[in-house]
Amino acid sequence: MTRLSGITPSGHVQLGNYLGAVRRWAAEREPADLFFVSDLHAMTTPHRPQRLRALTREQFAVLLAAGIDPDSLFVQSDLAGELGALNWILECTCGFGEAARMTQFKDRGAGQHSVRVGLLTYPVLMAADILLQGATEVPVGSDQDQHVELARTLARRFNAAFGEVFAVPRAVVPKTAARIRDLSDPGRKMEKSTLQSPGVVFVLDEPDVIRRKFRRAVTDGLDDVRYEPDTRPGGANLLEILAACNDISPYAAASAAGTYAELKEVVAEAVIEQLRPVRERARELLDDPAELDRVRSRGAKRARDRAQPRLQAALRVTGLR
Ligand code: TYM
Repeated sequence: MTRLSGITPSGHVQLGNYLGAVRRWAAEREPADLFFVSDLHAMTTPHRPQRLRALTREQFAVLLAAGIDPDSLFVQSDLAGELGALNWILECTCGFGEAARMTQFKDRGAGQHSVRVGLLTYPVLMAADILLQGATEVPVGSDQDQHVELARTLARRFNAAFGEVFAVPRAVVPKTAARIRDLSDPGRKMEKSTLQSPGVVFVLDEPDVIRRKFRRAVTDGLDDVRYEPDTRPGGANLLEILAACNDISPYAAASAAGTYAELKEVVAEAVIEQLRPVRERARELLDDPAELDRVRSRGAKRARDRAQPRLQAALRVTGLR
């Protein structure tokens, strides 16, 4: 089994990223695991180079601080050559309609004056990430499920057309915390690229900031706390966060809760305790850029070496060698 997954430096790592993905990546350590900061994916909308560089470093430090094995970590653009080659090959097996159907493309592209081609082909580059490394399991939140499904389709199609080169991957989505919602707008998911939302909790937020954000969380205007995600999404979100932090079910979290005001305090403290060691370790790592660079270049070499045989096979069977 090879697990692989990535996170895009389009903003600071937020609680949904952590509970839905990063924490699970760190929970089991398999020698074949690979996790990365997907900086190439951060260029599909206008970006500033200086900020991209800083966020890439920050996310790399957070992944390390979360307990991911340093030998499993790399930065996507350190494999820009290998990924660029496979990305092109896969683009030439993917239909325009298949890419345009992706809900994230439709959501992010909606209402935009001009949409970059990179936003359309974003999931193909994800497929390249996954297939290049022979990943079999892709631990993600539910918003990435559809993209992993496309990677499955492209792997099968490629293998059928040219011969068995790629493993066929599957998404692994958690039972709780697969889609954490914005605290101030439970109609939308929590997203790191949301600008200035009081409803996005960041992994590096100080405890007081986290308390304030939870105190202001939108709930359902009802007194009794119940887990009803469809009709009471704000309250259900708090219960899912608490359940994920304490490794219990959201129903169990609901039956132990008092009022919403009390629940908000309890969830805030549980989140603070979850994030405290990560924040403290990440701050230390960010003070030691030389160590971060060392881990980064070791990871890059390892990921590149692992990618080579599969890339060479893909070039060969498609007639490019
Ligand atoms: P990204 O950076 O948007 O998210 C990183 C991971 O966090 C999960 N996630 C959430 N989980 C629960 N609740 C939320 N509100 C929430 N928001 C985000 C995401 O599902 C994801 O698992 N394109 C990817 C990165 C990527 C990748 C890949 C992933 C690039 N190549 C190959 C898997 C395989 C992305 O931008 O994730």
